[in-house]
Amino acid sequence: MIANLLQASKNTVVFTGAGMSTESGVPDFRSAQGLWRGIDPRSLASIEALRDNTNDFVSFYSSRIRALQTVKPHRGYDVLTSWGKQGWLQSVITQNTDGLHEIAGNPQVIPIHGTIRELHCEACRNTYPEQRYLDEEVRCSCGGFIRPSVVLFGEMLDERALEAAEQAARQAELFIVLGSSLVVSPANWLPRIAREHSAKLVIVNEEPTPLDTLADYVIHGRKIGDVLQEAADKLGY
Ligand code: APR
Repeated sequence: MIANLLQASKNTVVFTGAGMSTESGVPDFRSAQGLWRGIDPRSLASIEALRDNTNDFVSFYSSRIRALQTVKPHRGYDVLTSWGKQGWLQSVITQNTDGLHEIAGNPQVIPIHGTIRELHCEACRNTYPEQRYLDEEVRCSCGGFIRPSVVLFGEMLDERALEAAEQAARQAELFIVLGSSLVVSPANWLPRIAREHSAKLVIVNEEPTPLDTLADYVIHGRKIGDVLQEAADKLGY
């Protein structure tokens, strides 16, 4: 089905969530083994946690950055990169901050939640490599606190990234969601915007999502890697 839809579409946008990375060994947030299981995300991934729970904030992000050092993008990432090169895909909007689309060589990524693969100083905005968190050095030369360049709960998304994502959603003829529970806004407005601009909406997610009733096609209970491989085999790449 996805192969046929891709062939019929002149403007296809893929929208990925944490479910895109679980087959690379990166936990998602809200499924049974997710990072937020039994944890209030605001206690670790918010601007309040950065201020009032700094030690837990640093160890939470240091452990995620450390775990990513040995993670490789799975085959599904390579399929999306190759579809981009072949012109089957116009952009990849991602909620993920693990950098795996970029590591897979995808030039079309719009990272709307920033990245944990780069750090910056809260005070002077000086940027630092992720290595600083691996070395547990959180102080900038200016004395400010160094934090990951991720959008924390309670922070606004980068305006340019959000505008680029909204533009891509408005222009899409085909909008494919891969591995998101679609519960976090404003990211979850994007499939709606695509649908309102008469895109065909496909949701590939192991579990049901609140936007399933909006979708033209829904695939539950299957792994993204298998779904993408099957479509790639049909398309010949
Ligand atoms: N194949 C298909 N679906 C999968 C797979 C897989 N291999 N692995 C996980 N999933 C599905 C899960 O069933 C789950 O519904 O992916 C979904 C991931 O949902 P979340 O964990 O909520 O992740 P996401 O939607 O990306 O979260 C959005 O929340 O915490 C914030 O900023 C964080 O960007 C994140 C945002």
